[in-house]
Amino acid sequence: MITVESLLGPAVQQLESAGSPIPALDAQLWLAHVCGLTRAQLLARPERVVTPAQAARFSAGLARLAAGEPLRYLTGRAEFHGLAFRVSSATLIPRPETEHLVDAALELIPDVAPSGFLVADIGAGSGCIAVTLAVKRPAIHVFAVDVSSAALEVAERNAEQHGVAKRITFLPGHLLAPLPVQVDLIAANLPYVADREWDDLPISVREYEPAGALRGGTEGLDLIDELLEQAPSALHSGGSILLEIGAAQGPAALALAQCRCPAGTVRLEQDYAGRDRLLIIQT
Ligand SMILES: C[S@@+](CC[C@H](N)C(=O)[O-])C[C@H]1O[C@@H](n2cnc3c(N)ncnc32)[C@H](O)[C@@H]1O
Repeated sequence: MITVESLLGPAVQQLESAGSPIPALDAQLWLAHVCGLTRAQLLARPERVVTPAQAARFSAGLARLAAGEPLRYLTGRAEFHGLAFRVSSATLIPRPETEHLVDAALELIPDVAPSGFLVADIGAGSGCIAVTLAVKRPAIHVFAVDVSSAALEVAERNAEQHGVAKRITFLPGHLLAPLPVQVDLIAANLPYVADREWDDLPISVREYEPAGALRGGTEGLDLIDELLEQAPSALHSGGSILLEIGAAQGPAALALAQCRCPAGTVRLEQDYAGRDRLLIIQT
């Protein structure tokens, strides 16, 4: 008889020898997902019987985890800002750092935003920013732009799941070019990994997450610079731009913003670890 207990012990060992940073947690979460249980339910009854089909699925996924594939791509699920999101190999897995960008955007969008307040999420990926803003600010309309149509399909499913699809327009294309009108706020987590940083990224990122969602050119700032150049004509006067940046990019991003948006007020915000993470421009 196969039980939870009999599967978990060897699975943790397999992931440990493969160099997984969190072997026990990954094995438990994956088995819980396969069995349709929460982790707490799984751990509460280690003697629970696992069917041969479940065990076979667990073992196939374990091999993928041991090779470095992120658990979120196996389960197809990730959590962001307290909401559940679908993810696929076409989308970045939403990061906790990006919740900071959402919090900063929420501060700039009035609690009862006048109907007609327009937001653009550029590089929408799974839609985590666009959907969260639409959920938390029920009067706004969001344009979600991404160069990847496969990512936008995932974003659209997430918007449907959270009941906000009618207030998000999904636009394939390059940066601000697809926007049909000027907006009040641009929020963007664009690719910002510099070329020299690429080889140092963990295998789970470099080999499994889409490179087009991560790589931002020599200094990592190519797309951010281009967006800043386009932004003044895409924004209503008094509008804001929020851009997630890499921890080492603060001074360079600040200088670019001052050059591209000379009339705006520009500042940096740090993440919870005290590293530069957000560039905010108010025009
Ligand atoms: C870092 S991911 C962010 C995804 C999501 N917003 C998040 O925070 O998890 C960057 C996204 O930008 C998209 N992207 C890359 N180049 C782009 C471009 N030129 N125009 C629009 N989107 C682009 C990628 O396809 C990817 O989905």
